[in-house]
Amino acid sequence: MRIEHLRHLACPECRLPLELGRQDHWEGEHLMEGTLRCGKCRQEYPVRGGVPRFVPADNYASGFGLQWNRHASTQLDSFTGVPLTTNRFYKDTQWPKDLTGQTILEVGCGAGRFTEVVVQTGATLVSLDYSTAVEANFRSNGARKNLLIVQGDIYRLPFPRDYFDRVFCLGVLQHTPDVHKSFQQLPPMLRPGGRLAIDVYRRFGFFKQLTITKYWARPFTCRMKPEVLYPRVERYIRTMWPLTRWLHQLPYGRNLNWRLLIADYQGLFPLSESLLQDWAVLDTFDMLAPAFDEPQTPETVQKWFEEAKLDQIEIGSGINGVVGRGIRRN
Ligand SMILES: C[S@@+](CC[C@H](N)C(=O)[O-])C[C@H]1O[C@@H](n2cnc3c(N)ncnc32)[C@H](O)[C@@H]1O
Ligand SMILES: [Zn+2]
Repeated sequence: MRIEHLRHLACPECRLPLELGRQDHWEGEHLMEGTLRCGKCRQEYPVRGGVPRFVPADNYASGFGLQWNRHASTQLDSFTGVPLTTNRFYKDTQWPKDLTGQTILEVGCGAGRFTEVVVQTGATLVSLDYSTAVEANFRSNGARKNLLIVQGDIYRLPFPRDYFDRVFCLGVLQHTPDVHKSFQQLPPMLRPGGRLAIDVYRRFGFFKQLTITKYWARPFTCRMKPEVLYPRVERYIRTMWPLTRWLHQLPYGRNLNWRLLIADYQGLFPLSESLLQDWAVLDTFDMLAPAFDEPQTPETVQKWFEEAKLDQIEIGSGINGVVGRGIRRN
């Protein structure tokens, strides 16, 4: 972490500013190893690998840590050469491309596919994730001067309240233990007049929901150790791929592939054959491994935005499900 970014952090216990503690190792302008401490409650928080850490090393998101460290660049636009993430970000948030001077919070950054888009807007970005995915993000984007990456928990955000100009949380809420409570953590981080953008998987009616076969498999797969599940998923996808390609040509072939637990993006995203396979491995693991997967209806999301007293509420649909935007009242 760069020292000038210390001002964006606060003790997750008492919300007071943090001070620099031990400084064991610097690399250029980055404090790589050391500690931060709270002057009031005396809590110490380690900085490891250039990232301040506010959570225990082992937590329910370890599968995400594995997935994003193995697929650190698979979904980055800079790697695929296709602006899939850029397009999704601007469609879902409806934010302008120039955000110079603003301070933005990203909750649940994973490997940093959105991080690399937002650091190019001129804003200062603070990106947080619960898992060791922060290490993948740090490798890809850590050199950007306007970026602070933090390992922390949505339920104990280590930042001042009423602080950020914008907060976004894409691809995350459904994977937390209490989706409503997770959502409630976000609006208080905004300054009055600040903007929030989120998405969450969509819950359909009872019978349609039944056709989503991942929910049949998950009771077994989400209990497996990620390091056991991952090679099985990889073997399954690579073995099935010729069949996947063939099925895809049939009417409803893509649907069939998804029912067979194969994340089939053929014809949807202009990716090379080998990238389509990598995305299938990554997203099939992402369907089966997470400890939590709690989709929501648009009506529920609308209610949450109203409860949080956000203005100019817009609820719509996006590639990940339900998208919501709103502005904190002045
Ligand atoms: C499906 S990934 C999405 C990552 C990224 N936003 C993307 O779209 O590529 C979900 C992320 O949410 C993070 N997450 C889960 N629970 C969290 C929590 N309590 N606090 C912060 N992040 C959390 C996971 O570690 C994981 O990286
Ligand atoms: Zn404190």
